[in-house]
Amino acid sequence: MNQLTSKPQSKVDVIKSLGHIGDFDIIVREAISNKKSALWGALQETLFHLNVKLMSEGFALGTKRGELEWKIRSIVEGVENELLSKAEIPVQITDPAEFITWLKTKIHEHPVNNHELFKYFDNDDLSSEEIRYFLSNYRVNMQRFHLHVAAYSLFVPFQMREELYENLYDEFGQGDFEQAHPNLYEPLMDYFGGAREEDWNPETFHLLNTKMALCWFADGLQYGLGGMGALELSIPAQQRRMLAHFRRRGLTEPMLKYFVVHCECDEAHGDGWFAAGLPYIKTREDFKKVYIAAMRMLAARAGVYDGIVRGILKRRAEMKGRHASVDRVDQQEQVA
Ligand SMILES: [Fe+2]
Repeated sequence: MNQLTSKPQSKVDVIKSLGHIGDFDIIVREAISNKKSALWGALQETLFHLNVKLMSEGFALGTKRGELEWKIRSIVEGVENELLSKAEIPVQITDPAEFITWLKTKIHEHPVNNHELFKYFDNDDLSSEEIRYFLSNYRVNMQRFHLHVAAYSLFVPFQMREELYENLYDEFGQGDFEQAHPNLYEPLMDYFGGAREEDWNPETFHLLNTKMALCWFADGLQYGLGGMGALELSIPAQQRRMLAHFRRRGLTEPMLKYFVVHCECDEAHGDGWFAAGLPYIKTREDFKKVYIAAMRMLAARAGVYDGIVRGILKRRAEMKGRHASVDRVDQQEQVA
């Protein structure tokens, strides 16, 4: 173990191979303590692949895979919860409706809504390739959104499912599969050149992993409610800035339908989620769970944008480096 902690590459290998469950707890703690590290990135990528496998092949109960994955998920989520900052909800808030009003203000005030990525959209400061890279990362979570709603619906009371299934009905194009949201996204993605696996950032994986933790595996319905409600409430304001940029680029309305639909309906979804969940958040403990999940989800969403901005700046720096070396060669040739 001591040998491992001094060798970063070995730790990444342990996460990737998942062969040493005994070492895993310590490595996970180190990874989650530094969310900018390669180790954290390897952890998110590994979890992402487990999650995608779960979505396509199930929980594998009674197999080695099922057993190992359950242990891994449990360790990671345990450490995540341990390292979370405390939920600070004003002591005077004891009424659930009052709590939801307070929470909605917190969601609207969250830094994700004014992320620096939106300045690139506002200033029309994005190349076609940068848009493709953005859309490719965005698509990873977009494609699977409906699955979290479906999975979460298993753990909520019958009455609350009505709201979730209305949301799913919208996700699937209100009865017209061609209009299902993942289908609406593809023309835009294809127009910019399509998605590539190498585009995907650890932060993009982390958002999917966070949704899975909160909606598929959490200890109580309050987590999915807080996380998904916060996402739905905050996304329209973010997407409006993306949509305005796409329109200024001259893209046609049919191609932008995915963004148009979400600017119109997600805010209502967010309100609907909190209204449907209101009867099931009664105590201060419940409030804390909802709040923690909401902030965790918005931080993960902000992380996706951080990763995209970092990627854009890295690509720009590489491009500048290449141009500078071409200029140097040109100058040398002229001198010669
Ligand atoms: Fe959608």
